[in-house]
Amino acid sequence: MLFGQIMHPMLNTAVKAARRAGAIINRASLDVERLTVRSKRENDYVSEVDHAAEQAIIETLLDAYPKHAILAEESGEAGESEYQWVIDPLDGTTNFLHGFPQYAVSIALLHHGQLSQAVVYDPARNDLYTASRGRGAYLNDRRIRVSRRDRLQDALIGTGFPFRDFTHLDAYLGMFRDLLQKTSGLRRPGSAALDLAWVAAGHTDGFFELGLSPWDIAAGCLLILEAGGLVSDVAGNEGYLNSGHVVAGNPKVFVQLLQALQPHLTPALRGD
Ligand code: IPD
Ligand code: CA
Ligand code: CA
Repeated sequence: MLFGQIMHPMLNTAVKAARRAGAIINRASLDVERLTVRSKRENDYVSEVDHAAEQAIIETLLDAYPKHAILAEESGEAGESEYQWVIDPLDGTTNFLHGFPQYAVSIALLHHGQLSQAVVYDPARNDLYTASRGRGAYLNDRRIRVSRRDRLQDALIGTGFPFRDFTHLDAYLGMFRDLLQKTSGLRRPGSAALDLAWVAAGHTDGFFELGLSPWDIAAGCLLILEAGGLVSDVAGNEGYLNSGHVVAGNPKVFVQLLQALQPHLTPALRGD
């Protein structure tokens, strides 16, 4: 389907699903102004979009693979299989609500618990990020690699602020204060899936956030690994899909970023 990339059939199906969801989101984005006026209905409407996009994704995936299991943000877990699709139908809901064009559809496939396929689709820009384990990462028809910047002080780092759950707020603010002084800049675009895709594409050199969910990060993490980057939890271990405390970057920046975060870790963040 894409020039220069022979797509795995399961990835191809995920792309079809992501594009369907993207079309639903794009259509709904035309009504955002009306929605902001009727702020009481805002959340209802958005959850309608979330649900419609998620339904379209699940239908497309199960149509092709009826026996596969699902873990989706809005509808939860369904089925049991060695294959599990992990879905965020609209990552960056707050941005979407405000007409701030930074949000994405995120779909990953786990095989025996291991990341095997990934799609992050940015419908506002029509940018499609894809990866299959062992076959590299792509943005549209172009192979992507993480950046080559090698010093944290020159690095542009993506992050996400705590905004719903403030358990780790003090630790986060310590990290933030430190990194403001140790990097070239911090950015909070507002969609973790896209933030990770941007590390894979080399738009940023690293990323960290606390308390994310598996559907926010599963696809983005495979994109980074396949683009030559590294991902871990904040203590440098695997298990980031479960803890949701994520650090990522090109190999050089990743190591320095991880090191810079260590003094701010609490026992809970370390997983003790
Ligand atoms: C959120 C976005 C945001 C991140 C939050 C996520 P949602 O996902 O990824 O960037 O900071 O932690 O929950 O709720 O918009 O799907
Ligand atoms: Ca999300
Ligand atoms: Ca979401």
